[in-house]
Amino acid sequence: MPISKHLRSHRSIRSYRSDDIPDEWLNEFLQDGIRASSSGNMQSYSIIVTRNRDIKEKLYKAHFEQAMVREAPMVITFCADFHRMREWLRVSNAPDNFDNVMSFMVAAIDAVLVAQNVALAAEAQGLGICFMGTTLASCRKIGKILKLPKNVFPVTSIVLGHPNENPEVRDRLPQNGLVHYETYQDYSDERIREIYRDRETAGWDRYMAMPRLRKLVEDSGVENLAQLYTTVKYTRESHERMSRALLDYLAEQDFMSGLENYQAASSR
Ligand SMILES: Cc1cc2nc3c(=O)[nH]c(=O)nc-3n(C[C@H](O)[C@H](O)[C@H](O)COP(=O)(O)O)c2cc1C
Repeated sequence: MPISKHLRSHRSIRSYRSDDIPDEWLNEFLQDGIRASSSGNMQSYSIIVTRNRDIKEKLYKAHFEQAMVREAPMVITFCADFHRMREWLRVSNAPDNFDNVMSFMVAAIDAVLVAQNVALAAEAQGLGICFMGTTLASCRKIGKILKLPKNVFPVTSIVLGHPNENPEVRDRLPQNGLVHYETYQDYSDERIREIYRDRETAGWDRYMAMPRLRKLVEDSGVENLAQLYTTVKYTRESHERMSRALLDYLAEQDFMSGLENYQAASSR
């Protein structure tokens, strides 16, 4: 299939057959993955493939019990990883400057690029994938389950397997609402309404077809999709709690060096 046809037929798969993926396929996907660009070619990521039922069960709980984690034959966790590089620096008697937020961002971008390559390779083979945002939400739990050393941080995961559903391709916001030429063109209220017009019905209908969400919406008095996003799905309370947990785990994993006085400096 030509690459653009392949890219445009992507849809997340959330229901899987249990049959395993041959090792040869997995190795091909991983090879495709590690061809991704990486900052300084440092490849500051690690990829953790989990097929073991017991470990997958623990991950299932950490991923808010999303059934696809149990169902799919494997979960792949992509980690920002400066541990390996720092070990190399240590044994080479080289200075080590990678215990900070800049290093985390560099490593996180590397990890996400590899993840998308692996996902595309698997989809090209006819398999399904779904990214798991719960990786960040449960970063500390997942770090413990996967025994991550300091300077390794789980950034994203995919479940991967044979699809057991055939969903429609989902809508996207119009290209002209997403792309700016030369410099950023800020949006008028009218333009915002125009860009989100189709989303407001497509997204609303989709969520109303999910009994659990429908009940939450009915109980909360939410009237439109925008309200649904921030009253039901992504609340301030949950986002602030997860932000604190994320920063705490970044500090625990030794990615926050040099920021001890950040609050004081930024409020001056
Ligand atoms: C970083 C990231 C995290 C995601 N986390 C979840 C998740 O935890 N559960 C889920 O069902 N889908 C998750 N998704 C899938 C998105 O919901 C999906 O990509 C989006 O709705 C668009 O649908 P499509 O991928 O089928 O085009 C995630 C996607 C991304 C990129």
